[in-house]
Parts: sequence; C-alpha cells; structure tokens
Amino acid sequence: MVTVGKIKLLRETIFLMGVDLVDFNRIDNEEVDRPEFGKEQLLEALTQITEITELKKLRNQIANVSLTIKKNARNFTRENSSEEPEYGIKTETLLKDLEQILETYSLERSQYYVKRLLKALTTKKSGKINDINLNRWKEYGDIVTDSLWIMEKRDRSGVHNAGYWGNFIPQIPQQLMKRFTKKGEWVLDTFIGSGTTLIECKRLGRNGIGVDLSKDALSTTNDNLSKEENKFSIRTELFNADSTMLDYRQMLNSVGLKSVQLVIMHPPYWDIIKFSENQNDLSNATNEKSFLDGIRSIGEKSYEILDRGRYLAIVIGDKYSKGEWIPLGFESMNELRNIGFKLKSVVVKNFDVTKGKRNQEDLWRYRALVGGFYVFKHEYVFIFQK
Ligand SMILES: C[S@@+](CC[C@H](N)C(=O)[O-])C[C@H]1O[C@@H](n2cnc3c(N)ncnc32)[C@H](O)[C@@H]1O
Repeated sequence: MVTVGKIKLLRETIFLMGVDLVDFNRIDNEEVDRPEFGKEQLLEALTQITEITELKKLRNQIANVSLTIKKNARNFTRENSSEEPEYGIKTETLLKDLEQILETYSLERSQYYVKRLLKALTTKKSGKINDINLNRWKEYGDIVTDSLWIMEKRDRSGVHNAGYWGNFIPQIPQQLMKRFTKKGEWVLDTFIGSGTTLIECKRLGRNGIGVDLSKDALSTTNDNLSKEENKFSIRTELFNADSTMLDYRQMLNSVGLKSVQLVIMHPPYWDIIKFSENQNDLSNATNEKSFLDGIRSIGEKSYEILDRGRYLAIVIGDKYSKGEWIPLGFESMNELRNIGFKLKSVVVKNFDVTKGKRNQEDLWRYRALVGGFYVFKHEYVFIFQK
C-alpha cells in the first residue's frame, strides 16, 4: 500500500536525486503519461547513492528507488526471455538486488552491493565462448546449469514441429548454443534429420552447417528452414552425404570455412528407429561395433575441424536387446573420450514418450515387471571440450 506519507518522502528524495517523480495516486486511478524512470535515471540515482555516508539514508533512498521501479516496471522488463540481456533489465532481478541491499546491516556492505549493481548495469563481462554477460548472470534463468534436464514440453515456437520421427526437442540445441557459442559463430550438425539444430541456429543468430544421408530428411529440413525468418542474416549449408565417410575439411572449404565452434551429434540410437534402407545409415549398422566405429569416425573428423577449447555434444539413448540393456550412450562416450576430447558433463534428460509407445505404456510396464528391467525414461547429452 503506497501511503501519502511515502509519496511525499519519495517525492522529496527523488527530487533530491534529480529525477522526475511519478504521481502514484494518479497512475493507479487514471490514464496518465508516466514520466520516464528508465535505465538512465536508475544509474543516476544509484551513482548518487554511492555518495551517501549514512546507512539509514542509504536505505531510504534504495527503498524509494525500488518503489519507483515497481511502478515503472515496463521500462525495465525484457520483452522476451530468449533475448540476451544487453540493455533491458529484468525487473525481478533488479528488485531482488535492491532487496539484498535493504537487508544489509553495514554501510560498507551496502555500498559494496550498490557499486556491484552499478557495475553489473554498466559493464559487460563476456564469456570467451558465449554471449553471456557474467556481470548479469542472474538474469539467465533460462539457461540450465544442472546435469538433470527435465523438459516436460517440446518448444513449438517458430517452425518447429514433432513431425519427424526421432527428432529431438529444440531446447537441446538451444541450451547448447547459448552456453557454447556466440552470435555469428558456426555450428556443425552431423545428423540433420528434420533440421531442429539448424532452425535453432536461425532463431539464435548462429550459422549452421549440417550433413544427412537421407535426401528426404534434407528436403524436410529445407522446407522447415524456408519458413523460419532469417532475422540475423545467418548462413545455413546442407550436405547430403555419409557423415562417417565425408571429408570435413573439403566440406568446410567448399563454403569458405576453416573451422566450426560447436558440433552437435544426434545419431540414430543404433536400430531403435530405422531411418532408411541405406547400408551406411547408422540405424542399419549390423552390430554394435560397427555402430560405434561410425560414432568414432565422426568424432575424429569433428575433432579436426573444431576450434581448440570448443565443445562437442552427442545426444544419445540406450537400447534393450535379447534381455540385456545395451549402454550405447556410455559406449559412445568412451569412443569420444578415447579420441582425446575432455568429458565436461554427463547430462541425463527425461525421455519424451513417442506417440507410438504411448498406447503401449501398460504393456511395457508389464514386460518390465516380468523381465526384471526398467522402462527407458531418459537419454544422455554427453558434453566434451577439445
Ligand atoms: C536421430 S535423427 C536426427 C534428428 C535431428 N536431430 C532432428 O531433430 O530432426 C538421425 C539422422 O541421422 C541420419 N543418418 C543416419 N546415418 C547417417 C550417416 N551415416 N550419415 C549421415 N546421416 C545419417 C538419418 O537419416 C537421420 O535423419
């Protein structure tokens, strides 16, 4: 509740800070033009607060700034959470920072927090391999940092759809690109499928280069890509080839590139889904060894053209055969480690039950109870660094 007394106090203090005051009573009741209290005014107010030498006075000023922000939230809110916080400040984070200052009991500590907030608002501390501003790390609530990824729903924004059997949810490449690339860098997808990674590239402003053995997959991808707006003017290059055999250097040369900054591999989980009749299709590998040979070959080729310090991620699940759990994920992980990649994380992601299996859930539960095994509900994202 904003009382008349508080408004008076606020009017006086903000006047002292040289900032126009909002008449809260009028705002609550009438349509009025709100005086600007945007980033500029906030910086000015905080700078003046750094001069204060009395804790009580400092707290009053912070409380007033906080109140003014609550009433002017629209000037601070970022329009959409996938946007990087370059200019727009998330009101929620800002208010939490001010709250922290209000809860501090010494002038020194309070001043430290005010100066830290000012620094966070005015300077950018960029990561080497992404666009995350580490001075504003609290604002990246959309970026996952835990090793358990529970993603309940497929992101259906943009042109994404679940039409291609065996595609992954867009959140996977989205998370990887936000953590491990900067805008304008190049991402290689060694198994394009319906183009989920390349669509995300377009949406996030990364260039994408990809390979798939299946012409049908590429035509689906082309279709999907043509519907996605190219708002960052990025490039997308598609190759119809066998990723285990292709000369990656030549592929990059043909489009004027020397290296890439992120590799994403989403192979078939061996023969769980048959993607084509082609004998080179990894879903037709005749045994586990030949499947893993394919994974190793792609890993080696990717290693050659990935910049040092940069990342490769493989998304893969296990399979069950003749009463035995086949740990394709860990076997593939070992192939990549043996090449020389440094394992950075083993992420476990919940598994989206496919439409086909949904009606059979009871049957699988029965089978599991009889057969002494557990029904697959997860897959892996193994994350490596060169
Ligand atoms: C699991 S899907 C990839 C799905 C993709 N991430 C998406 O979201 O649409 C695997 C893809 O690998 C392709 N594939 C299988 N063996 C291949 C090979 N040796 N070289 C290139 N592509 C291959 C299949 O045609 C299939 O499109």
